[in-house]
Amino acid sequence: MSADREKGIADGRFRFIFGVPFLIRLSRGSDSRACARIGGSPATRSVRPAPGWECIEPMKFALFGDIHANLEALQTVLADARARQCTHFVCLGDLVGYNANPVECLDLVRDLGCPVVKGNHDEEASEDTDLEGLNPLAEAALLWTRAQLDEQRKDWLRDLKMIRQVRDFTIVHATLDSPDSWAYVMNKFDAMASFSYQFTQLCFYGHTHAPKIYLKDDSVYSVDRTGISVKPGTKYFINCGSVGQPRDGDWRAAYATYDVVGKRIEIHRLEYDIDTAQNKIIEAGLPEMLATRLALGK
Ligand SMILES: [Fe+2]
Repeated sequence: MSADREKGIADGRFRFIFGVPFLIRLSRGSDSRACARIGGSPATRSVRPAPGWECIEPMKFALFGDIHANLEALQTVLADARARQCTHFVCLGDLVGYNANPVECLDLVRDLGCPVVKGNHDEEASEDTDLEGLNPLAEAALLWTRAQLDEQRKDWLRDLKMIRQVRDFTIVHATLDSPDSWAYVMNKFDAMASFSYQFTQLCFYGHTHAPKIYLKDDSVYSVDRTGISVKPGTKYFINCGSVGQPRDGDWRAAYATYDVVGKRIEIHRLEYDIDTAQNKIIEAGLPEMLATRLALGK
């Protein structure tokens, strides 16, 4: 342990969070831009704060899912997350299905090395199960997707976990109460079932392709907001929306950010090159309706 670090611990300037020392700003206000982690790689090594400042490392998650092989939307989301200085990525599943770039999207997410949970389309695309019962659009896209993915990529999808804990929050694609039955959380009663299995304050999920924030304190209810501050004593179940096939009437790509230091969650919507995504669907021979619905946001 360096002398600087020992001194920082001794005089209370450093605080250990999950075993990692952080500089802490003791005076009023906050400005994570002035903060830096102690130690670490050269890229993240500490710089001393200005006099009068103590710091906490900026830690901001980008949470995204239901990409559904829409490369243009995914690239736009990742670029926006980086521009917002997100430090970590988390994927909520359904990397493939519906759109025309399953291989590229899978490789892009896999190369991030971030936590990923399995979605129902990831499961269907990586197994040889009967697709009977699915809607015809999903079935056609999954059969096409299976033909695009090699065994190594199918193995990677097959090995994804249903539920993961990341730092102090949980991620799941569909529901916590029955994650592999692929039920939808459509109302507060569905959310109540998930909350009963939620052992962290925050849980992020997807599957419905529509952003939503459910809260549980004395009761369970939802709020229609694009951002919310995390308060003690309340649990949050947050749908981050869909990157590649939104179904809430808004065609723009959706994802969420979670600022750990500022205790703030925001849901973002982004325009992307939808024309290219639609043209690729047509050129791939996928059903034309898959291209049409992208522009409708449903
Ligand atoms: Fe999905």
